[in-house]
Amino acid sequence: MKIKSIRQIKDFAGKKVLLRADFNVPIAKGKVNEDYKLVKSLPMIRYLMRYGAKLVIVTHMSNEKQSTQPVARRLSQLLGRPVKFIPDSIGEKPNTAVDKLKDKEILFLQNIRFNKEEETNDKRFAKELSRPYDLYINDAFGVSHREHASLSAIKKFLPSFAGFTVEEEVTNLNKSLKPKKPLTVIIGGAKISTKVPIIKNFINKAEYILIGGAIANDFLKSLGYEVGKSLVGNDEQMIKTVIKLYKKAGNKKIILPLDFVVSKKKDGSGKLFVRLVNNVEQDDIILDIGPKTISFYSQFIKKANTIVWNGPMGLFENEKFKHGTMAIAKLVAARSKGQAFGIAGGGETVEALKLSKMFDYVDWVSTGGGAMLDYLGGAKMPGLKGIVKK
Ligand code: 3PG
Repeated sequence: MKIKSIRQIKDFAGKKVLLRADFNVPIAKGKVNEDYKLVKSLPMIRYLMRYGAKLVIVTHMSNEKQSTQPVARRLSQLLGRPVKFIPDSIGEKPNTAVDKLKDKEILFLQNIRFNKEEETNDKRFAKELSRPYDLYINDAFGVSHREHASLSAIKKFLPSFAGFTVEEEVTNLNKSLKPKKPLTVIIGGAKISTKVPIIKNFINKAEYILIGGAIANDFLKSLGYEVGKSLVGNDEQMIKTVIKLYKKAGNKKIILPLDFVVSKKKDGSGKLFVRLVNNVEQDDIILDIGPKTISFYSQFIKKANTIVWNGPMGLFENEKFKHGTMAIAKLVAARSKGQAFGIAGGGETVEALKLSKMFDYVDWVSTGGGAMLDYLGGAKMPGLKGIVKK
């Protein structure tokens, strides 16, 4: 793998640097709720400060109306230095502010998705965005699967480099693409369509692919099992792909749950039951993997030398159904940092690691949700084109 790393440059004095970050973080009542992505970017920002850059940071927020001002404020607290917010990302205001920047000063631009041209990868917009800068760094791994102007087209107009986060992400995620065997991949979550590419890509690389969450329902339903009123995808094509995958890989590679915790009600009120996979009733709702599954899955985690985990095993936000996910978090963490190289990622997986207090015991927790799935699924990564060569 070849990375056009920003580490090649050590003198930024007098240079106007545009840093594309992924600071798309949850905000409530004007405050950042969760700052993992910001914390991860601090070494990159401190490096640029140490070597004298005039630094301008730009990010998107998924909410196209959300201002990035609270993010700038939180970043300033984390860095312990001023971060000046500009309520625009292109045009006269930011251009003038960039011109006035002194070495080691930081400006923070408005949510780039305020401009509709961002998401259409508009070249003219990218050119305008690039105008005041000398170089561009993509440190936004988490959004590098998007063909957007500040990630893709911008690279045509500025010398472009990979930031520390991008570099670390691809280096660590690649450890699962050329893994130390055996490789155990654990895939959960709700949306089968987002998980099929990663399962496909690991079919020949992984020894074991453990399935949990609602996507296990898709597999089981496709194989003719009763899943009651449980959440299932309704994409016929996807179901066909699932059957094909399972037939191709066999039940020794794609491993499905043996039992579940079920309820008659979505919110889990009333009595809960543990059911074996072939005993699920027509009015049952599957909400977690059961104890037999946890113990069965632990065997495959305990013998792995590389582990990839994405997606919860059940509705872990509900206290009653968190046990499967918490158990997997503990098993992955216990095997990581030493015996195995453990990789985890995805918004809910990160939350589950925090809830279980296992976050610090996994080798690599990706800042990417969709981006991690796409990268590991072998999809195109427009944000990495030209700066990372596999
Ligand atoms: C994420 O949080 O997964 C990234 O920031 C990408 O956000 P998006 O799905 O709005 O492009």
